[in-house]
This record gives sequence, C-alpha cells and structure tokens, in this order.
Amino acid sequence: MYNTLLTSLEENILTITVNRPDKLNALNRDVMRELDEVMMEVESNKDIRGVIITGSGPKSFVAGADISEFQGLNHDQGMDLAKKGQDVFFKIENCSKPVIAAVNGFALGGGCELAMACHFRLASENAKFGQPEVNLGLIPGYGGTQRLVHLIGKGRAMELLMTGNMIDAQTAFQFGLVNYVLPQEELMTKARAIMLVILTKAPFAINRCISAANAAVGGREGFTKELSGFGDCFDTDDMKEGTSAFLEKRKPVFSGK
Ligand code: COA
Repeated sequence: MYNTLLTSLEENILTITVNRPDKLNALNRDVMRELDEVMMEVESNKDIRGVIITGSGPKSFVAGADISEFQGLNHDQGMDLAKKGQDVFFKIENCSKPVIAAVNGFALGGGCELAMACHFRLASENAKFGQPEVNLGLIPGYGGTQRLVHLIGKGRAMELLMTGNMIDAQTAFQFGLVNYVLPQEELMTKARAIMLVILTKAPFAINRCISAANAAVGGREGFTKELSGFGDCFDTDDMKEGTSAFLEKRKPVFSGK
C-alpha cells in the first residue's frame, strides 16, 4: 500500500517502519508524503488505537532528511520543504492516539526530529541521536530546534545543535530524550508492552492527556523562526558546500559566505 513504509496492524497497534535501508531510511519527499497519508489513516481507522514508529534494518531508525533533495533549492523552496516536514510532524505530535518511537539505530537530523515528534521514545543500545545539520551549513527544519530544547533543556540542546555531535543511547537516557534503553531484540517487545498498557485505558482520557501535555510546551513562534532560519541557509555558499561535501564523501570547507 505504501512504497517507502511498511505497516502492520496487530492488537490495534499500527507499526510503521520507514523502509529505505540502503539510504539508512533517510526521509525523502515520498517518505514524508506517505507519513502524512498514514497519519490520516491512523486518525480515520477505528481499528488503529496506537502507533509505533521504527526504522528498517538493524543500523538506522532514520539518518535524516534526504540530503540529495536539498541540492539546487533556493530560499523559498527550502522553507517550503521544511514547512511540509513541520506539518507532517505536527500531525504526529498532535495525533489523537498514542505514538511511540522505537529508535533502533541512527536518529539524526530529521530522524531525531521524527522521534521527538512522537509522544515518547525507547531506544536500542546501538541508537545514536543528533542534529548534525550544521555539518551541512544548515539548521534543523522539522522542529528540531524547538523539541530538543523542550525535551533536554536549552543548554544541552544548544551544544548538540551547534557542535552537530551525536550522543549515544545511554546519554540520551540521562538527558531524558528516551525513556528506556534496551537490547535491540527487546526494543519492539517493550514498545508493544507499554502500548498495550495504554490501550487498556479509556481512549478519550488518553486523547486528552496528549492534547494537554502538548499544550504545556507552548506555541509555534519558535517553529516559524526555525523555518525562516532554515530557508536563509539556502542562500549561503556554505550550505551548498556542506551538502555537496556529504554527497561527495569529503569534509566540507566553510568560507563563512
Ligand atoms: N540523506 C541521504 N542519503 C543518506 C543520508 C541522508 N541523510 N544518510 C545516509 N545516506 C546514504 C549515504 O549517502 C549512503 O548512500 P550510498 O551507499 O548510495 O553512498 C548510505 O545512506 C549509507 O550511508 P553511509 O554514510 O555510507 O553509512 P555510514 O555507516 O558510513 O555512516 C551516518 C552513517 C549516519 C553517520 C552517515 O550516513 C551520515 O552522516 N548521514 C547523514 C546524517 C545527517 O547529516 N543527517 C541530517 C540530514 S539534514
């Protein structure tokens, strides 16, 4: 039914697996469109009462937005790409049913942002988290500057955003980014077990927990700031250099222009 996602519905839990393992499940336009579609299905299908999002293969949850699609975009096209991504992730965050991220490897850039848009996260021991966009002359565009601050605090978020460094699963646990760290083979079992507990509760009450908890973290002004900052990067030589360097498998040389 989907080209870039695998879905399976068992015991009212829809498991969504981002399925581009040869590209470490990077989020290209097709994945984003299908994530949007599947979240509409989640809302409309009464048999779906909870969602688990994971990545295909043992290595990666999602290694970011697809960098090859950034090339050749101008300021407005960059902003438009980020706006569409933010909208899909708002749909996940505001889903009326519980959504858990089972992070089974790299959760970088858009992958970390996808995990953070879910209601909470579990990680396998090999998981790694980060917002490495600065390595590309970019900033996160799918809500990462906002949700990272909310989840781990401004100081830690600032360090990760500005260094582009990755953190391992244990550090993510210490920072409060993930609730559990598990051997990879236990990750989905634990995610399902937690979801099954949630599904024994009143769906209406769960729905109101989600909307009230989401309201605790404030408005959208910062997301708009992120969008314009993301677009601005597309006007720079450094963004062209950063993305080209990644695709050419070399280190970028930033000029400050
Ligand atoms: N966009 C597009 N392609 C990506 C990608 C991304 N975000 N992340 C990985 N890939 C591709 C690689 O280009 C490579 O493709 P190829 O086999 O056709 O050359 C393939 O996935 C495997 O990745 P590779 O880099 O060879 O694996 P690795 O184990 O050496 O490194 C990472 C893993 C995650 C450290 C590295 O892939 C990486 O840094 N990815 C980009 C992370 C990032 O900057 N994300 C934010 C984007 S906004």
